[in-house]
Amino acid sequence: MISFSPIGTVRCALTDTAQIPRGPGARHEAEGLLELRPELEAGLTDIEGFSHLYVLWVFDRVEGWELLAQPPTDDRPHGVFTTRAPRRPNPIGLTVVELLERDGPRLHVRGLDMLDGTPILDIKPYLSSIPAERLRRGWLDEAERRRAP
Ligand SMILES: C[S@@+](CC[C@H](N)C(=O)[O-])C[C@H]1O[C@@H](n2cnc3c(N)ncnc32)[C@H](O)[C@@H]1O
Repeated sequence: MISFSPIGTVRCALTDTAQIPRGPGARHEAEGLLELRPELEAGLTDIEGFSHLYVLWVFDRVEGWELLAQPPTDDRPHGVFTTRAPRRPNPIGLTVVELLERDGPRLHVRGLDMLDGTPILDIKPYLSSIPAERLRRGWLDEAERRRAP
């Protein structure tokens, strides 16, 4: 077993999963705070220079998992590791947020898709070096083609 202590907590207005957009074309514009434990504040030194951040967090309100998931973007099941489904063997979430402002140990961000009170495991700067033409989107491309009029 590996155990982690959360570095902080998400504070936002999303209290019910029904409030979080999902499915084709879903856009995540919700704002809120990533509130770090005060003793970890020095770890945010220089973060203001980054426009976007990766947030690693825990799906703390799921039970169990399955290896085939039915994503809202398709009418067919797919291997859980090819989806962003919450019910997975290690219930870890990964979200890219836009950093709007820092106030000490609190980061005001946009783009949340997790519930208020969600435990945060880690924060890292978002840097992408993969050219768009080298990215393959697996079953998502096929599902979008099938949905196209
Ligand atoms: C599809 S997952 C994607 C999350 C993240 N962007 C990822 O890729 O890992 C987002 C959904 O997780 C669910 N969710 C959000 N916060 C949660 C939490 N703390 N515990 C359990 N489920 C949560 C909501 O239903 C939300 O729509």
